[in-house]
Order: sequence, then structure tokens, then C-alpha cells
Amino acid sequence: MSKQFDVVVIGGGPGGYIAAIRAAQLGMNVACIDEWKNAAGGPAPGGTCTNVGCIPSKALLQSSEHFEHANKHFADHGITATGVKMDVAKMVARKDSVVKQNNDGILYLFKKNKVSFFHGRGSFVKAAEGGGYEIKVAGATEETLVGKQIIVATGSNARALPGAEFDEVNILSNDGALRIGAVPKKLALIGSGVIGLEMGSVWRRLGAEVTVLEGLPTFLGAVDEQIAKEAKKAFDKQGLKIELGVKVGEIKNSKKGVSIAYTNSKGEAQTLDADKLIISIGRVPNTIGLNAEAVGLQLDERGAIAVDGDCKTNLPGVWAVGDVVRGPMLAHKAEEEGVAVAERMAGQHGHVNFNTIPWVIYTSPEIAWVGRTEQQLKADGVKYKAGTFPFLANGRARALGDTTGMVKFLADATTDEILGVHMVGPQVSELISEAVVAMEFKASAEDIARICHAHPSLSEATKEAALAVDKRTLNF
Ligand code: FAD
Ligand code: NAI
Repeated sequence: MSKQFDVVVIGGGPGGYIAAIRAAQLGMNVACIDEWKNAAGGPAPGGTCTNVGCIPSKALLQSSEHFEHANKHFADHGITATGVKMDVAKMVARKDSVVKQNNDGILYLFKKNKVSFFHGRGSFVKAAEGGGYEIKVAGATEETLVGKQIIVATGSNARALPGAEFDEVNILSNDGALRIGAVPKKLALIGSGVIGLEMGSVWRRLGAEVTVLEGLPTFLGAVDEQIAKEAKKAFDKQGLKIELGVKVGEIKNSKKGVSIAYTNSKGEAQTLDADKLIISIGRVPNTIGLNAEAVGLQLDERGAIAVDGDCKTNLPGVWAVGDVVRGPMLAHKAEEEGVAVAERMAGQHGHVNFNTIPWVIYTSPEIAWVGRTEQQLKADGVKYKAGTFPFLANGRARALGDTTGMVKFLADATTDEILGVHMVGPQVSELISEAVVAMEFKASAEDIARICHAHPSLSEATKEAALAVDKRTLNF
């Protein structure tokens, strides 16, 4: 006998589990299927983000930052810390327990919201008689669910480099990168994007000699150029070696480690030997095992599920959200789409504003931005004004002992509407929210400049950068 639901969600990552909860809040009878297994084989909902992405990477970034502070910065405060050691096994165990708290939290939320959770792989069987779709769940047992509507939220997988298969021992995806058991003497990374910089930072702080090989000639091409330059300066100073414009050739993997042949930006042949190699060259949408063909669910040329602006697929009653569809591969983007789809299913006007999705890179200094970069505005022929304010001139940053970086505002030359805000510096992952709110409300730079900000706080750098748009900074 099949179990009947208003909505069946396939995938329990940030897109899927949030969609399931919102649909249940709106009175629908909801099932969520997720196949992720914890070390004991039990359910571990939360997807890539919770298990091998956002959460564990931030746990390791935090531990390694404490270590770096104890070793390098405590002395500035008059604190003597001798014999500081890192117990990597304990750091990894702490990370695992943070992950588990999140897995358990999601299972609790499912119960609280009366979402029926199924542990196993969900796949399309056929269109159900009387409407909806039959979905098979293959787990410890096999069951068939019928959903009047389906949300596919099956996420993404690490992109592999041909000729360098992930063995998760020497050649690591994000999964293995978060489980390294001892500090490698030499760590190589291919791809200086978000994962490359975050994971490279963790292991550099712990003492590894880290080299990142990047194919493009520009560093962080999607980031505002001025901000990317400032960040690169800071990473160079820390000893994170980033080689731009390389062409990676043959990769040899042996018991001794990994040897990477590449051509540098001058066209010279080079070899990089490392104990471990992390490949972080982007991610690909995941539809493995979904049996999309059985119902004729359309994919696009990238292998993503093809959707319109409302996350509707080519099939009536089938929606898709998160990394498995177009757009930035970010947890909060997946969540926003999940909420919007649940609300649309309930006849409401769910809404995702793609122009105000923030990005954060959790390195030190952190990098955060929302809206368009200066290079994009130039390319679009938009007349704009720019204002910057350095953390060097911010009292709270000086008290923290972290004055790297700046806040930058870009506003329309005529209307003063904020078009982009770009930050590099301490705690900008939190500061960026103010800019997101401002842009969502179509604020002008003048609006932010006229709002009272607490003193002393890092947020004063935001106000001052808004003042700088009109060339009237007060503290610089
Ligand atoms: P996923 O989180 O991938 O979840 C999909 C789920 O569906 C998985 O649990 C999978 O097992 C399950 N599944 C797949 N197919 C089936 C099936 N047929 N049946 C049943 N279950 C299935 N984003 C941020 O916003 N901030 C960050 O700091 C951040 N850090 C990251 C760090 C790393 C190392 C990585 C790799 C990613 C990071 N991301 C971050 C990106 C973020 O993890 C993804 O954007 C987000 O997880 C996408 O959510 P999703 O729900 O679409 O997919
Ligand atoms: P990415 O897209 O951020 O960066 C990949 C980098 O690899 C690019 O700079 C690209 O030019 C380079 N590259 C691609 N092919 C290459 C090759 N053959 N040789 C050398 N360089 C090559 O992808 P990444 O870092 O793998 O992360 C995947 C996604 O996960 C991110 O785009 C982001 O959506 C998400 N993520 C988000 C985080 C956050 O929000 N803080 C943290 C980590 C991941």
C-alpha cells in the first residue's frame, strides 16, 4: 500500500528540509526523503551543508582560528601561551559533534512540524493514477509514497578533475578535506574559489605548507576587484601561496602522496609534490538515482533540473530548488527557494530576490558582498559613485587588533540607490546583513549615512563607507 501525501520532498538539505517544514506549517501533509547516512548508518538530514559543507567547514575554521590567535596574536595582548598544540583528532571530533547537533535538530524540527521523514533514496516511479507521482523510497525497507506535488532538492556533488579520481585518502573532495586526520606537511589545492580559500586557510593555520593552483589569471573574479586585491594581499602575508593562471597537467597519486604537473602563468613546466590534494573546482547538480527519465523530468545542458523563475519544472506539480537548479550554489539561496515554493503551492506569492543574495567567504579576513561589483557596473554602462572606508580607521577594529580591509559602497550616480556593497575585514559575514536589508528596501547610500550606528562597532565602517559615497567621511 502506498502512503499518500500532499507533498513529497526528495532531499533533506537546506532546500528540501526547509521546504518541507514551510509546507507543513501551511497545513500540508508532507514527507521528506533523505539518504544521507551518519557513521552508524543512521539518518543525517541537512545535506551537503550540514554534513560536509557550511557547518563542518565553519567548525574547523573556528578551531584553527583559535589556534592561530593563541600562537600569533595572544602575545600582543600580554598573554603568554607556551606549548600551544593542536589535537587534530579532537578538533575533528568536535566538528562531528557540531554536525550531529544539526542533524538531530532537523529530525526534531520534522517531528515538531509533523513532517514524515523517510531515510533512503527517493526515485520517480511514474505518474500516479488520479494525479501526482509515485515515489519509491529505497532504504532499510522499500516503500512507495504518492505525492500530489513533488519538490526535488537533491543538491550537488564535487566536480571531479579527469585523471584525478577522488580516493578521499590523498585526492580529496570537500568530504575528505573535512576529515583529514593529521596536519599534512604539504597540502595542494586546485581551484582558489570559496572551498580552496576556506580549506586552505584551515590547514595553513595549523601549520601545513599550502599551495593553491588556480586556472584563471584573476583572483576571485566574481568579487569586486578592489576587495579581491586587498584579500589577496592579506593571504600572501599569511603565507597562503596562490598561483594564478596555471594549467594543471598529469596528476600522479601514490602511497607517498600526490605529484601535480602544471604549467605556470609564464608557461614554465612545474611539479608540485604534496601529501594531500584537495580538488575544489566547483560543483555539479546531482540527479543520480532520481530516475528523472521515468517521468520525463527535463534537465538543462549543465545537468541541472530545468526550472522557470518560480522553480517550476516541465512537469505539472513537480518543483525543484537549491543546488540542483540554476543560480548560486548557496544554502541560503536553497532555503529561500524552498520557502517560496511551499508558499506558491499554498496559493501565496513566494518570492526570491536574486539581486540581494549575499555571499560570504569565511576566511580571515572574511570577504562578503551583495549586489553588483564595480567591474559589473562598468560593463553594464551604469553611472555610479563609490565610497570606501578602511577598518584601519575604525576604533573597534583597532581594539580587536584586526584592522585589515575595508567596506565599499557603490551607489547610483543620479538616484544614490545602493547598487552593491563589498567588504573584506573582520566579521563582515555579519556586517553584510545591513547592506542586504538596505538593498532589499531600495535604500540610498544617504539612508545608511544618516542612521545612528553604535560606537564603537565595526558597523560604523559601513556608515562611514556610505558617507564616503558623498565624500564626507568623519573619521578618515
Ligand atoms: P544539499 O545540501 O546537497 O542536499 C541534498 C540532499 O539530498 C543530500 O542530503 C542528499 O543526500 C540528498 N539526496 C540526493 N539525492 C537523493 C535521492 N534520490 N533520494 C534521497 N535523498 C537524496 N553555502 C553557504 O551558503 N554557506 C557556506 O558557508 C557554505 N559552505 C560550504 C562549504 C563546503 C565545503 C561546501 C561543499 C559547500 C558549502 N556551501 C555553503 C554550499 C551549500 O552546502 C549548498 O549550497 C547547499 O547545501 C545546497 O542545499 P540543497 O538542499 O540544494 O542540497
Ligand atoms: P568555486 O566555483 O568557488 O571555485 C572554483 C575555482 O576553481 C574557480 O576559481 C575556478 O576558476 C577554478 N578552476 C576550475 N577548474 C580548474 C582547473 N581545471 N584548474 C585550476 N583551477 C580551476 O568552487 P568551489 O570552491 O569548489 O566551491 C563550490 C561551491 O560551493 C561554491 O561556488 C559555492 O557555491 C559553494 N561554497 C560556498 C561557501 C560559502 O558560501 N562560504 C563555502 C564553500 C563552498
